[in-house]
Amino acid sequence: MTATQISIRSLNYSDLPQVIAVERRSFPTPWSLAMFVLEFSKPSSVCLAAIEAGKLAGYLICARYDRVWHLMNIAVDPDARRRGHGHRLLEALLDRVGPEESYTLEVRTSNAPAIALYERFGFRPAGTRPRYYQDTGEDAMIMWRTAEMTSTSGAAG
Ligand SMILES: CC(C)(COP(=O)(O)OP(=O)(O)OC[C@H]1O[C@@H](n2cnc3c(N)ncnc32)[C@H](O)[C@@H]1OP(=O)(O)O)[C@@H](O)C(=O)NCCC(=O)NCCS
Repeated sequence: MTATQISIRSLNYSDLPQVIAVERRSFPTPWSLAMFVLEFSKPSSVCLAAIEAGKLAGYLICARYDRVWHLMNIAVDPDARRRGHGHRLLEALLDRVGPEESYTLEVRTSNAPAIALYERFGFRPAGTRPRYYQDTGEDAMIMWRTAEMTSTSGAAG
């Protein structure tokens, strides 16, 4: 079987129609166009695209608040999942920002695929935010990845 050819580059404003299409196919309560534009406009944001066969297959948005990087959004088109795009996006983030930096995120406690991906990159659970998601009332799991944690676990990245 031929390995999937994935390339990673910065997201552009011209990617937004494809980003919105993937977003709507990925989340019960998708981000609006305005939310993406806001994140794009922040100087500290890292916004990455995963490209397969010339087409946007996934994206990642991460923003720095104080000294901590917050993974704000990551999604891969349902038709392109489980082919390594999520892995490559997180790998590229750690390459660009630095594996020694501190990262945090929130994830639905039921989102096993995302939690498995994050755990592979050394993120670990660090509490919950009860009823964080207004659409379903589901709890959020808070996850962190710090240099101290990964130096002892041998995590990817
Ligand atoms: C989470 C998501 C981004 C993963 O993207 P992906 O491109 O399918 O992930 P990858 O193919 O790079 O998988 C990397 C690893 O993550 C884990 N993983 C990914 N999908 C998984 C699944 N359905 N079940 C179990 N583990 C999974 C595995 O460890 C996998 O490695 P492996 O394939 O060698 O076993 C994708 O499922 C998605 O877009 N989900 C909807 C949006 C979402 O929930 N985003 C996260 C919000 S917090």
